[in-house]
Parts: sequence; C-alpha cells; structure tokens
Amino acid sequence: MALRLKVNGEERSLEVDGDTPLLWVVRDELGLKGTKFGCGAGLCGACTVHLDGQPVRSCSTPVEMADGAEITTIEGLSDGDQLHALQQAWIDHNVPQCGYCQSGQIMSAAHLLANNPRPSRDEIVAAMTGNLCRCGTYARIVAAVESVAG
Ligand code: FES
Repeated sequence: MALRLKVNGEERSLEVDGDTPLLWVVRDELGLKGTKFGCGAGLCGACTVHLDGQPVRSCSTPVEMADGAEITTIEGLSDGDQLHALQQAWIDHNVPQCGYCQSGQIMSAAHLLANNPRPSRDEIVAAMTGNLCRCGTYARIVAAVESVAG
C-alpha cells in the first residue's frame, strides 16, 4: 500500500505492505538504524519510537497504523548538531554499557519529560519500567533523567 509518513520532520512516501512492522520500515526502508530490534514481541522497549507524540513499540506496530502520522526516532530528537538534553545527560552520566537498549530508553524518557517536565523519582521509575536493560543501567538512567528534570 502507498503510505505517507512524516519522519523526523520530513515527509516520506512509501510503497510497503501495511502489516509490515514500523520497526522494519524505519530501519530498512528509511535507513534509521538507531531504533533497535530486541524481542520483536512488544516486551523490551528497545524499538520505542514516538507516533504522534506517543511512545510505541515499533516492532509490534503495523506500519499502516502510522499512515499520515508523525514519527520521531532517536535520530529526530537532536536539533542538527545540538543534542537533546537527554542525549547529553546520557553521555554525562555514562549511562550506556552495551548501549543496545538505550535509544528506546531515551525515547521513553523524552515522552515522560515532554508531558511531565519535573517528574518525581517514582514517576521516572514508573515511566521507564517498560524498557528493559540487560546490563542493569537502571540507576544511571534514573540519574540522567533526574538531571534533566532538574
Ligand atoms: Fe519491540 Fe522488544 S523489540 S518491544
């Protein structure tokens, strides 16, 4: 089917099966490799992107659900060379270990702060619960989010 997406501010037209997971369209059709495949079953959060401002598991979101929508991936968080405050905080707090889950972590944190700029520690922990990290970087993730939340 013919689809129109706005990806990181850019209009994109695609011809793709509507049931293709958004993750594969983002990675393979659009070449945005920052969004990761973890479990493929909606369980780990590594594939998190924003769909019209809401965090979604792109591995389990058929691309037809995104037709006409606005998609933001980790590549779209920065403003040119200017990193998003969370991306800078991730560097400053040495958050990643293997790094694989971290783009999904940042996308979830970005949604939290967009809707609640000053979350409590409990609110941060609750918001990040769905994003798994096998390296156990959770304490640094919370510290990095708190540093941006002020
Ligand atoms: Fe999508 Fe795990 S890869 S939730």
